[in-house]
Amino acid sequence: MKRGTKLIHNGYETDLAVGGITGALGVPVYQTSTFDQGTSYVSGDLSEHREYDYARSGNPTRKALEDIIAGLEGGAKGYAFGSGIAAVSSVLGIFEAGDHIVTAGDIYGGSWRILNTFYKKWGLEVTAVDTANLDAIKRAIKPTTKALFLETPSNPLLKITDLAAAIKIAKDVSNQRGSEIITIVDNTFMTPYLQRPIELGADIVIHSATKFLGGHSDVIFGLAVTRTKELGAQVYRVQNSFGAVPGPWDTWLVMRGIKTLKVRLEAQQAGAGILAGWLKAHKNVTDVYYPGLADHPGRAINEAQSSGAGAVLSFKTKTTEQALRFLGKVKLAAAAVSLGGVETIASYPVRMSHASIPEPERLRLGITDTLIRISVGLEDPDDLIEDFDQALK
Ligand SMILES: Cc1ncc(COP(=O)(O)O)c(C=O)c1O
Repeated sequence: MKRGTKLIHNGYETDLAVGGITGALGVPVYQTSTFDQGTSYVSGDLSEHREYDYARSGNPTRKALEDIIAGLEGGAKGYAFGSGIAAVSSVLGIFEAGDHIVTAGDIYGGSWRILNTFYKKWGLEVTAVDTANLDAIKRAIKPTTKALFLETPSNPLLKITDLAAAIKIAKDVSNQRGSEIITIVDNTFMTPYLQRPIELGADIVIHSATKFLGGHSDVIFGLAVTRTKELGAQVYRVQNSFGAVPGPWDTWLVMRGIKTLKVRLEAQQAGAGILAGWLKAHKNVTDVYYPGLADHPGRAINEAQSSGAGAVLSFKTKTTEQALRFLGKVKLAAAAVSLGGVETIASYPVRMSHASIPEPERLRLGITDTLIRISVGLEDPDDLIEDFDQALK
């Protein structure tokens, strides 16, 4: 079955899949905190305890989406969370004090913050490297390294990490020393429609479903998928005990979003390609970062490991003044945090997504005051170009 079909025909086409009785073309919103177990007490057979007992531990609406995302990513188990960063934090919750994690340098600022502040306090050790450079990954691995945490394309500079090669490094070291280094990939920018890291050997995939999966800038949501049931059991333990779970309405919105992912992402990606080419030729733009551009250093790797360049790009203006003026003047893009919605969003990483990274570190990564990130929406690219042109003058 092709990808687009799988987004619709995912085992949860009707309410029958979750015990409904009508055959309705949708999973019901089970708005309940608890589930009656009375019958098992009457019969005295407590093994008859129902599948669901309390909605933090499990909810049929949530279970449907967890199964859907696991199926789309090709993993054994899926887990849903109240935000993307709750998914990141909960996955990191499987590690212990003293464990070391190698991360990409320019990961999402919130992931950087949770790793370098909160989890550092609890004894997790982190080394950030340019994971597009495989030697840098090798050099960063220590005897206590337990995971690689990757994002490709990276945020906000759209650097490409060779997933298969990075995963091979983790597996080779694991085999040599007899203890495992798992690979975790934040697949938010690509979605399983374009890229499936578990098929390339990754162990855990994370999503901010707030972005392309939800797709309409109307929900905050996170997902995680594990390659194995065993890793799934570890993530479930954190999901249930941390309790950063989503409500069923938001879950339903993400499920609905996934049904239209193909058409949204294909159209947004086509727009991003057009806009990136146009920006490259603009006299006030010094750099354009988009893996679909012919001269992007990671283009060939991205083409080999995914089926598209996605709908997010970044560019740098000549001066900070021009960047700020663009954000103030642009009309068809919200000057806002976030990405992946049907509307174009222009964000300013130094003040928004990456504000929590200290300035020297930010500048070292190339996240300057002239950098703007664009999440291309469903507007007509001609209109976006006309608008961007007036804002860049
Ligand atoms: C790549 C990436 N991962 C994780 C997150 C965090 O997700 P959320 O904002 O849903 O908590 C974001 C948010 O921008 C993101 O861009």
